[in-house]
Amino acid sequence: MENELSFDLIDLNGNVIRKEELVYIGRGCNASVWKYEKEKCAIKIFYPRGRTYALSFNVFKRMKNLELVNIVKAQQTLYEKTTSTKINKQQFDAYKMEYIETEKQALLDMKMTQLLQNLENLDKDIFVLSNNHIEMHDVNPKNIIWNKEDSMFHLIDIDMYEINRGKVKTIYEKNNIFLYILLRGVIRQEINSLNEMSDTSRRELIYDISSIFSIDSKIALVKKVEELAGKEKDLKTYVLSRFY
Ligand SMILES: Nc1ncnc2c1ncn2[C@@H]1O[C@H](COP(=O)(O)OP(=O)(O)O)[C@@H](O)[C@H]1O
Ligand SMILES: [Mg+2]
Repeated sequence: MENELSFDLIDLNGNVIRKEELVYIGRGCNASVWKYEKEKCAIKIFYPRGRTYALSFNVFKRMKNLELVNIVKAQQTLYEKTTSTKINKQQFDAYKMEYIETEKQALLDMKMTQLLQNLENLDKDIFVLSNNHIEMHDVNPKNIIWNKEDSMFHLIDIDMYEINRGKVKTIYEKNNIFLYILLRGVIRQEINSLNEMSDTSRRELIYDISSIFSIDSKIALVKKVEELAGKEKDLKTYVLSRFY
């Protein structure tokens, strides 16, 4: 069965997670993701052939102890439990991470205060990552999940993140651009699925709203919109009010 595991997992302390304890959440090209109810965490398990695209041990080690708010990091490495007792620590098969209860929330429907909070959190995270020479990759709309309860969005899928030994400032700028492109991508998708407008206004709207996420001043701009529109307004109401 596609959604059943054929092996148990074990951590470096010898604790076993039995396959029956895992509940399937989703999968991509390289891995499947499971919920481990007992510890309220999520576990990502790589397919044997997905290994080339798995998180590197160096990035894992470096990120593990960083304080991140909206970027979901790997917390502990796990290994397929086999009869052999030898484990090569660096060749892990899976990892534990924080579990995010998800329910899709449109960015456009997000209140300005919440949007601002998310951007501030992400900005902090990017600052911390960049200071530690970690460059983000694979930052795309598929790798953002939403926790509707607290209106926070989280970046997942850190597997392609890399260590960049270059200047922190350059890494920070690069990571910011990735985030900026991601937010624009999400906005573009959402606007394209609004059906109450013409193609021309759609294009204008995409342009207009994208300017809210301009690279350097994303927080300043959102703050400005918040002042203009009010904290309780959402992005869509604000932008539509500029058109009609
Ligand atoms: N920490 C998590 N909490 C809840 N769901 C998650 C978590 N991480 C991943 N998922 C779910 O699993 C899916 C695949 O995760 P992802 O890391 O993007 O895998 P892939 O590398 O295969 O693209 C996501 O789209 C999401 O629905
Ligand atoms: Mg993914």
